[in-house]
Amino acid sequence: MRPRAVEVEVVRPLRGEVLRAGRPPEASVLPADEDPRSHHLAVEVDGRVVSVGSVLPLPPPWAPERTDAWRIRGMATRDGQRGRGHGGQILLGLLEAVTAAGGHLVWCEARVGAVRFYERAGFATVGERFVAEGVEHIAMWREI
Ligand SMILES: CC(C)(COP(=O)(O)OP(=O)(O)OC[C@H]1O[C@@H](n2cnc3c(N)ncnc32)[C@H](O)[C@@H]1OP(=O)(O)O)[C@@H](O)C(=O)NCCC(=O)NCCS
Repeated sequence: MRPRAVEVEVVRPLRGEVLRAGRPPEASVLPADEDPRSHHLAVEVDGRVVSVGSVLPLPPPWAPERTDAWRIRGMATRDGQRGRGHGGQILLGLLEAVTAAGGHLVWCEARVGAVRFYERAGFATVGERFVAEGVEHIAMWREI
């Protein structure tokens, strides 16, 4: 199932359910959501959103001069629908959106449990692990 471009309101409920479980809806609002340059993608199965992800133009902290850099945020696949390639399709779609917008570097702060997922898509880790929202993360990036 190919992802489609959607408004941010479509991605927020699943983003909240997976990444901000037990938190109020405001916790699922990211600063980038108001940036009109952001792209939001969703995969739907039987009319239900099962996987989402977003990307926005932003240089990584370790390379602030890279104005051609984009940050991936809010990658989430519904529990019970994981491991079926939906997240991979979202990630591919986000990379295509960045390429179409003239971007050349993509990065994210990956939960350590998702490192293999990003590595399969050509991302490499950079720097040390850190804890955010009580979860261990590590920055990852790739050139495109
Ligand atoms: C990471 C995530 C978005 C991947 O979505 P997905 O639809 O399962 O992705 P795919 O089916 O394309 O790829 C699955 C791969 O992700 C890995 N993976 C990471 N977390 C996983 C999980 N909780 N369940 C299943 N697979 C997971 C698997 O190892 C698998 O890799 P493999 O095929 O080499 O074994 C999804 O697992 C998820 O929402 N996890 C919880 C939230 C999260 O960690 N988000 C990323 C924040 S940076």
